[in-house]
Amino acid sequence: MSLIYLIGFMGSGKSSVGKNLAYVLGTDFIDTDEFIERKYNRNIPNIFKVEGEVKFRGYETSALNEISKKMSTDDVISTGGGIVETNENYETMNQSGDIIYLQTSLDEIYKRLIKDTNRPLWNNNDRAREALYNRRIAMYEEWSNYTVDTDGKTISEIIQEIEHIINK
Ligand code: S3P
Repeated sequence: MSLIYLIGFMGSGKSSVGKNLAYVLGTDFIDTDEFIERKYNRNIPNIFKVEGEVKFRGYETSALNEISKKMSTDDVISTGGGIVETNENYETMNQSGDIIYLQTSLDEIYKRLIKDTNRPLWNNNDRAREALYNRRIAMYEEWSNYTVDTDGKTISEIIQEIEHIINK
């Protein structure tokens, strides 16, 4: 069974690429954040505010476990940018599928998230954003089997590259 996991920083396009990729492949799509919001009937900022990040990471890990067990070949899973914060998540993804890193420059992320207020860890000063970005990119690189650069590309171009990777 090989699932397709998309990882990458906030704003790298995991959800929109994932949704469209699954459509093109004719398979199912799940976004871990949406799964959590539906399961706990609360939005992510609220979970962060009321219960804190540690609790959210626990929800994220159990969501990933549940999702990885119920999905089948070529189904697409887009993950939250902080999926790499919990080591256990690596085993879950690596044992059940391919991990594809959507790589996006920090400049591009700034453009895409300019008006965003829904991401608690982006709602921060520039220094903290940059530190988080730099720490995370090393983790995405280490965890992924493949990397796709998304800067300046359309969703269909990104999907074509992923199709090429999975058809190899
Ligand atoms: C987070 C990324 C968000 C969401 C939460 C935490 C992170 O998902 O899971 O706000 O730690 O990078 P997106 O990457 O889909 O924005």
